[in-house]
Amino acid sequence: MLNGKANIAVLVSGGGTNLQAIIDAEKSGIIHSGKVSLVVSNVKDAYALTRAQNAGIKTAVITKKECGSAQMFEQRLIDTLEENGTDLIILAGFMSILSEDFTSHFRDRIINVHPSLIPSFCGKGFYGLKVHEAALAKGVKVTGATVHFVNEIPDGGKIIMQKAVEIQPDDTPEILQKRVMQQAEWIILPQSAELVCGEIVKGEK
Ligand code: GAR
Repeated sequence: MLNGKANIAVLVSGGGTNLQAIIDAEKSGIIHSGKVSLVVSNVKDAYALTRAQNAGIKTAVITKKECGSAQMFEQRLIDTLEENGTDLIILAGFMSILSEDFTSHFRDRIINVHPSLIPSFCGKGFYGLKVHEAALAKGVKVTGATVHFVNEIPDGGKIIMQKAVEIQPDDTPEILQKRVMQQAEWIILPQSAELVCGEIVKGEK
C-alpha cells in the first residue's frame, strides 16, 4: 500500500496507449484508490517506457533474451514486483503469456485488457491487430474489449468489465483497433483498475 492506496505496477510491451489512459485516469481522479509506481517492459525500446518517464514513473526493462529462459524471466519479474511492494499488476498490451507459476503467485492481483468480447477471438495467438483481423474475417458486426483477471488459462480468468463497439463496413484492422481502444479499452481499463484497487484497499481481495 502507498498512503492508503493500492500500489500498481503496469506491464507493457508496445505503444502504451492503455498505460497512458491509466496515467490520465489517475490524474483526473477516476483512479483514486490506486497509484502507479512502476512500469515494466519486456521490450527495450517500447514507447510505453517514454510515457512512464514523462509521467515521472519508475521503469524497468526485463527481457527473456537477457534472462536466458522463460522461467528466469518470470522469476526476475516476480522479484521486481515484490521488491516494489506491488498490490495490483495491470497487463496493458503485455505480449507475453505468463505461466501458472506466475499467475498463482499473484492470484486475483493481475488484470488484463483484451481487444475483443471474450470468449470471442481470444486465447493463444490472439493479440494486438490479429484479434481485429480475425473479427473482420469472421464478419461479426459487433466487437469490443474485455478486462479480466489473469489465471493460468490465456484470456480465461473471471471477467471484470466488457464494452461493445460496432464494426463499420469499411473497417480495416487498424481502423477497428483504434475505435476499440477509444470507445472501449481506454474507458474500461481505468474503471476496472479503480474497482479492483477499491476492493484491495477495503481488504476484500
Ligand atoms: C491493445 O489493443 C491491447 O488490448 C492489446 O494490445 C494493444 C496494446 O496497445 N492486448 C492484447 O492483445 C493482449 N492479448 P497499447 O500498447 O497502445 O496499450
